[in-house]
Amino acid sequence: MILVTGGAGFIGSNFVLEWCKRQANQGDERLLVLDCLTYAGNLENLAQVSEEGRFDGRVLFSRVDIRDQAAMAALETEFTPRAIVHFAAESHVDRSIHGPQVFVETNVLGTLNLLQWGRKLQDIVGDRFRFLHVSTDEVYGSLQPSDPAFSESTPYAPNSPYSASKAASDHLVRAWHHSFGLNTLTTNCSNNYGPFQFPEKLIPLLITRAIEGKKLPIYGDGLNVRDWLFVTDHCDGILSVLEKGRTGQVYNIGGDSERTNLAVVEAVCLILDQLRPKPSGSYRDQIEFVRDRPGHDRRYAINAAKIRDELGWAPAESFDSGLIKTVKWYLEHPQWVERVKTGAYREWLDKQYAVVDRSGSNTASNL
Ligand SMILES: NC(=O)c1ccc[n+]([C@@H]2O[C@H](COP(=O)([O-])OP(=O)(O)OC[C@H]3O[C@@H](n4cnc5c(N)ncnc54)[C@H](O)[C@@H]3O)[C@@H](O)[C@H]2O)c1
Repeated sequence: MILVTGGAGFIGSNFVLEWCKRQANQGDERLLVLDCLTYAGNLENLAQVSEEGRFDGRVLFSRVDIRDQAAMAALETEFTPRAIVHFAAESHVDRSIHGPQVFVETNVLGTLNLLQWGRKLQDIVGDRFRFLHVSTDEVYGSLQPSDPAFSESTPYAPNSPYSASKAASDHLVRAWHHSFGLNTLTTNCSNNYGPFQFPEKLIPLLITRAIEGKKLPIYGDGLNVRDWLFVTDHCDGILSVLEKGRTGQVYNIGGDSERTNLAVVEAVCLILDQLRPKPSGSYRDQIEFVRDRPGHDRRYAINAAKIRDELGWAPAESFDSGLIKTVKWYLEHPQWVERVKTGAYREWLDKQYAVVDRSGSNTASNL
């Protein structure tokens, strides 16, 4: 069994779906999805693997908060996964500026709890045990336009409460490898985009606001640069690292697609102009520049040579092909968007699943 934390969130749910697709053809290993379902956790993302009988008990779900040591201890008595793939986190930079406390609690202390469980698991499972920690390129700080891209040896310089909390968790993972011999792997990736991303993040925010006829806000001058990674390419990279990565190592994962925020907005507008033209004018007319957020990093860029050279991984999607897929997905799933926006997705979970929360003894239910 593999444990996936944060498996109801954006990247985690894409990972679960991708993993199930691969398992359908080979092997019968089970997945235990662990998620406390914050606003960002949406069990509807996993509907494809929850259709009755489809995976026949191969995907289990447990509603557990990784900050809760007692709940984690209860899980320990029930399950012995051979690997942990750790996505669970508070992940939105803007939210971290308004309320940093939960970022430290979940991203740092939650990771600590998992690392401690990982040590016990490795004692039982042996050397094949893996703890894969999913982190971000934001831990490396901000680049000037002419600076070389972040490599795995770039010094850490986090600038937001979010990136500081992720950096702290990365350091814990590193220390647990060196001090306790835990078989850790850390991946630091760039901005993901694709299906199931909560519409507070840039690309789904733009798509959903554009079709509602709302303004498309861009921070500052719009010239902040990010590297964009299509989410299934990221999942594929994580699987490569899980299967073939050298323990104790860090792997950067990037999409080789640096774009300014303005270029991203314009690209989204262009695709929407083609796929869903307005009666008159372009979606570009809705662009509006707004006051920059504090501490807004200017540029992130990823040098992904290590994962490419060592593990043979490369992104399959270009920014253009990934963006077309993403825009289409949001246009074809208005109900998903609506239910997230109205909050109806939260009711669905109570109706669909007898999910016993952290205080219960029966913590896992078949999806
Ligand atoms: N989205 C990106 O572009 C990006 C880029 C780089 C790194 N990352 C990292 O990838 C991981 C996943 O990101 P995402 O975009 O899918 O995030 P997300 O916010 O969409 O999902 C996070 C998931 O974790 C769960 N969670 C939060 N706190 C929890 C807790 N205390 N206990 C149990 N579950 C909890 C949430 O319910 C949610 O399902 C994060 O660690 C993030 O730092 C994301």
